[in-house]
Amino acid sequence: MEIINRRQRMGSVARKIRRDQDRTIGLVPTMGALHEGHLSLVREARRMCDVVVVSVFVNPTQFGPSEDYEHYPRDLTKDTALLTDYNVDYIFAPAAEEIYPKDFCTYVNVGGLSKPLEGATRPGHFRGVATVVAILLNTVRPDFAFFGQKDAQQAVVIKRMVRDLAFETEIVVLPTVREDSGLAISSRNLYLNAEEQESAAVIHRGLKQAKELYKKGERHAAKIEEIVRTTIESEPRARVDYVSVVDAESLERLEKLDERPLLIAVAAYVGKTRLIDNVLLNKVKKDAPASKG
Ligand code: PAF
Repeated sequence: MEIINRRQRMGSVARKIRRDQDRTIGLVPTMGALHEGHLSLVREARRMCDVVVVSVFVNPTQFGPSEDYEHYPRDLTKDTALLTDYNVDYIFAPAAEEIYPKDFCTYVNVGGLSKPLEGATRPGHFRGVATVVAILLNTVRPDFAFFGQKDAQQAVVIKRMVRDLAFETEIVVLPTVREDSGLAISSRNLYLNAEEQESAAVIHRGLKQAKELYKKGERHAAKIEEIVRTTIESEPRARVDYVSVVDAESLERLEKLDERPLLIAVAAYVGKTRLIDNVLLNKVKKDAPASKG
């Protein structure tokens, strides 16, 4: 495994793999602080691709002014040790100036999809995400890039960017990895104490109840949203920020539900920590993409 810090070197290594060796490349973009959620993406990348690149880059442009970019957990030594066990070929770990040189001024804005849900409380967040992912895709030019369903809106935004701007990478979105309690695994869980960890499992319980209600025939979004909200808020440490039933592709909020793919998205505070989670209904059943080559 090689750790690469320079964008130019990453680009030339990837070019050589594609051209001279005709091997496929899988990219797993991360901000480090790796956990089981990331590792599930790495495993799938390993299964599907000849060469696996994991990027570790805490991206300043996706943090709002009140979000803690400086204190985001960084431990490249620990991340590297974990990735060694997964037979990763390259870690791309650039410094901020390498990605954003002094006079950087070009951003990717994925229109309306960046506005609702997380975009409403985190203005500029998805512009930062789309911009850094575009830079990573252009640097590595992977055949496949891997993202988690836990960040559902991020996955939708990236897929749309890839389609609209004609990137050649196929975006693979993999299911949310959960603790036994149902709590979605996230870097933010580090901020929860033991009691809060337990309480936070209520978010998934709320979503499961909503799924059941839909299965039983409820088609009013307000009723579905209400059951999520009341379930979560039955836990004294939890407070809902938003719960919204949206079209899974356009992220448009719906009132009357039908049989199209739907996303029930939640953000909730447990103590001081803001967590997000979601459930997909009427998922389009698609076989996992076959590995190229
Ligand atoms: O999901 C993340 O960790 C980040 O948003 C990503 C995709 C690596 C971009 O910085």
